[in-house]
Amino acid sequence: MTASFPLPSSPLPSSEPTRPLLEARGLVRRFGGLTAVGGVDLSISEGELVSVIGPNGAGKTTAFNLISGLDRPDEGSIRFGGIDITGKSPEAVHAAGLSRTFQHGRVFANLSVADNVLVGAHRRLKAVKPAWPVIGPLAELALALIRPPSVKAEEAALREEVREILSIFGERLLPRIDQPAYSLSYANRRRVEIARALASRPKLLLLDEPTAGMNQTETAEMLEIIADLKGRGQTILLIEHKLDMVMRLSDRVVVLDDGKKIAEGAPLTVRNDPAVIEAYLGHGGVGAAADPAAAAAPASDQPARLSA
Ligand SMILES: Nc1ncnc2c1ncn2[C@@H]1O[C@H](COP(=O)(O)OP(=O)(O)OP(=O)(O)O)[C@@H](O)[C@H]1O
Ligand SMILES: [Mg+2]
Repeated sequence: MTASFPLPSSPLPSSEPTRPLLEARGLVRRFGGLTAVGGVDLSISEGELVSVIGPNGAGKTTAFNLISGLDRPDEGSIRFGGIDITGKSPEAVHAAGLSRTFQHGRVFANLSVADNVLVGAHRRLKAVKPAWPVIGPLAELALALIRPPSVKAEEAALREEVREILSIFGERLLPRIDQPAYSLSYANRRRVEIARALASRPKLLLLDEPTAGMNQTETAEMLEIIADLKGRGQTILLIEHKLDMVMRLSDRVVVLDDGKKIAEGAPLTVRNDPAVIEAYLGHGGVGAAADPAAAAAPASDQPARLSA
């Protein structure tokens, strides 16, 4: 399961986060009369793993869309790596070092596993993508057709790196490296998406429900993979409904409800926060959720529950 694939930041003790890598302030996104995100602050420091949880429709994915440039906030600001990325395009945000996966999984169905992952490395190409103004795209096309030694060497190095990234997923993807993505199982397509996101060597990885649709074994495996990435210093913002995962992985948990942040803090503190319990269960569930066994509730695809 362990690979030597280099991640951007050096491993840091999770209890000692350094400077904020991402700082979103007062994010607002309205859809007509509905305020999906209503003034949310969200930050993450290098080496941290922060989980964003909350009931269905709380605004988690919308917040990710705003941060990753897929959608523009009506109000608020987003700084990433010290630069203002508010309202920037997904390409610009990606170029700044932020990669994401999607709640409903997105792969290029007709591309092979290897090519799907190579797509993620595209922004790092140097030999085949000369930064020449105006003629840059034409030069890129010419180099791709002629394939001089520099381009071949870069491609070979990247293909080797793709193998290393795929080896993070054990034997799940490597034996299928040349198969088209459409032929993969659902869980494998989700793994390919994460591999593609990693190929850009992101400073920040956004994972939107990476275990959605996965069975218990696959979920446990994904937990180990995310723990492994975290252990090697990858900064991760995670949306997850499976609270046992959240409790095991998170340095910090942010809880959204109805577009608002209702709690933030250490996993155990948040789990026992009455406002959080009320958001999930209503007033009647407050006592029940203090049960520590709740954290080990079986993985499921159902919306998060604070008690089994
Ligand atoms: N493009 C859109 N147009 C209109 N309403 C939207 C749009 N995107 C999201 N919403 C609404 O905004 C609210 C928040 O949605 P969002 O997808 O962010 O929730 P979520 O917390 O990710 O929920 P889930 O856990 O079910 O994925 C929901 O009421 C949703 O219907
Ligand atoms: Mg969502």
